[in-house]
Amino acid sequence: MDIAVMGATGHTGAKIAAALLAAGHRVRALARSAGKLAALERAGAQPFIGDIADADFLAQAFRGADAAYTLLPTDRRAIDYAAQQTREGEAIVQALGRSGVRRVVFLSCLGAEREEGTGLIAGLHAQEERLKQLAGIDLMLLRPVSFFENFHDALPVIRELGVHADAVAAQLAVPMIATRDIADAASRALASQDWHGVQVRELLGPRDLSHDEAARILGRHIGLPQLAYVQLPGAEMARALVQGGLSESFALLYVEMVQAFNDGRVQPREGRHADNTTPTRFEDFVGELAAAYRDLPANG
Ligand SMILES: NC(=O)c1ccc[n+]([C@@H]2O[C@H](COP(=O)([O-])OP(=O)(O)OC[C@H]3O[C@@H](n4cnc5c(N)ncnc54)[C@H](OP(=O)(O)O)[C@@H]3O)[C@@H](O)[C@H]2O)c1
Repeated sequence: MDIAVMGATGHTGAKIAAALLAAGHRVRALARSAGKLAALERAGAQPFIGDIADADFLAQAFRGADAAYTLLPTDRRAIDYAAQQTREGEAIVQALGRSGVRRVVFLSCLGAEREEGTGLIAGLHAQEERLKQLAGIDLMLLRPVSFFENFHDALPVIRELGVHADAVAAQLAVPMIATRDIADAASRALASQDWHGVQVRELLGPRDLSHDEAARILGRHIGLPQLAYVQLPGAEMARALVQGGLSESFALLYVEMVQAFNDGRVQPREGRHADNTTPTRFEDFVGELAAAYRDLPANG
């Protein structure tokens, strides 16, 4: 099959592109930087370099493909995060409509059935609704949970302050997942012919995990067995994100999303079962975080 992969240099897209190439499919790899796409090109992918907000670029990249993996990138410095996602989401849907791709997988998020009150997730709900308006396509809405990879962002603070801080309730056990397991589900959905219509697939990782427990596991692997998790009030978390260089609009949506988790408003729709439970454990993944922690500059 001939498959277009958006975000082909990112967490999920890079793994999906590599898996599809390894399985013998033709892959169109979309991103902005020729340099970052070079390894995939050497592996046989056809690079498409351009901006997601450019519907002409996307239509050209999608035209003639059997299937497309789509996502909305997270631009944490976007001045108006929601407006940027709307622009990019509209460009994607317009391009899919013009190019005639019949099989589309979209990377959404747990909780995307809710229209509002979920911060960052509400933008993914809006994109799901736009995609559903496309006539005659098979559409898979993948709704994973928080990525293990997010802990990479916490490492510099852990190095500098010796604590892991976020706004998530300390003992709230939430589903978390490795992006390799999302890539596995997406690759299979893109290449298989055994599903039709609009499908929603939640992906919950292997088990629910609290930030307290994740900090303990991480601490053991980075030589900080006493590493503690500190829950910040939402306003303080938002201030810290802005001080770290992220946009205010992103920070506010992030905090609203975390509050929705803390209040129990974001939950799996069907509970946990074999089909939405994925194999990679945090304990399997934590070695990657430990290696990144060792590679941090000594002054953080
Ligand atoms: N983090 C979580 O816990 C979580 C949970 C559930 C859902 N999600 C969703 O996952 C999505 C992000 O997926 P990901 O983590 O796989 O992606 P990612 O690692 O953030 O990478 C984004 C990809 O998009 C490309 N890109 C960024 N801006 C672009 C632009 N303007 N034009 C063209 N390409 C652009 C980047 O390539 P270049 O930079 O090389 O151009 C990169 O390949 C978001 O929608 C997020 O809401 C995240």
